[in-house]
Amino acid sequence: MFKILTLNNISVAGLNRLPRDKYEVASEIMHPDAILLRSFKMHEMEIPKTLKAVGRAGAGINNIPVEKLTSMGIPVFNTPGANANAVKELVVAALLIASRNLTQAWDYARNLEGDDASIAKAVEAGKKKYAGTELPGKTLGVIGLGAIGGRIANAVIGLGMKVIGYDPTVTIQHAWNLSAEVQRALSFEELLSEADYITFHVPLIDATKNMLNAERIKHMKNNAIVLNFARGGIVDDDAVIKALDEEKLYAYINDFPTNENKNHPRVVSLPHLGASTFEAEENCAVMVADQIQDYLENGNITNS
Ligand code: MLT
Repeated sequence: MFKILTLNNISVAGLNRLPRDKYEVASEIMHPDAILLRSFKMHEMEIPKTLKAVGRAGAGINNIPVEKLTSMGIPVFNTPGANANAVKELVVAALLIASRNLTQAWDYARNLEGDDASIAKAVEAGKKKYAGTELPGKTLGVIGLGAIGGRIANAVIGLGMKVIGYDPTVTIQHAWNLSAEVQRALSFEELLSEADYITFHVPLIDATKNMLNAERIKHMKNNAIVLNFARGGIVDDDAVIKALDEEKLYAYINDFPTNENKNHPRVVSLPHLGASTFEAEENCAVMVADQIQDYLENGNITNS
């Protein structure tokens, strides 16, 4: 019998892949053979002596001590691509939310007071105050050219946007098979100087920590919009908030609320919603359960 310890809720569709006659799965279990988790921070946890594998139902692995586990001969599995559509859809929504001032306008309308005549007057004022911009012809800079970045590129080309890309580790030609415009290889600084919107889809590693900082913001177009649905720490929030206050940047939409960013009028912070859809949770759980099973039963490493 293999024992599987779940440190976060894992979709039942994934857990059902593990036959009950061979697997015992529980959120509290002694001597686990494998751990399944999402965002649980494993760094401070004592590694069980029986542990043979760790599986993350998600793409990022910065909550897992990968080096330590690898040195102990314990592979770490993740599920790149399995939740990419969910992130893509939220990024497209964020582009529209920022361009049309939707959160501020919604707040404005919700707080209207008085009789219908005074509300109608305020509607006229709001219509002017919250007038937005459109996406066609604007340029989106995608930083990180993996499964998510490629999907976003395709989606926004469909909305009439231009797309440019940069990745700290791979070239655009290597990563994407899209239109000639998208395939232009750019340095990060070039991308920043051409993009009306930038969106991050890189893992949090030493090379990407504070990748967007005060110095780099200087290269950006005035009124550019920053989206971060990758990880907190990739964007230097203090530098972005200063640039918003100085009206250098227009808006910042992110998935990582902090005391500093959550109440700023030009910031929309969401509670790590990028991959939180029913479908994505199911896809990730199924993929990681299959990987763990294949490893425990056959010794196969299909992704790590
Ligand atoms: C990911 O790394 O893919 C996401 O953080 C997954 C999640 O939200 O659990």
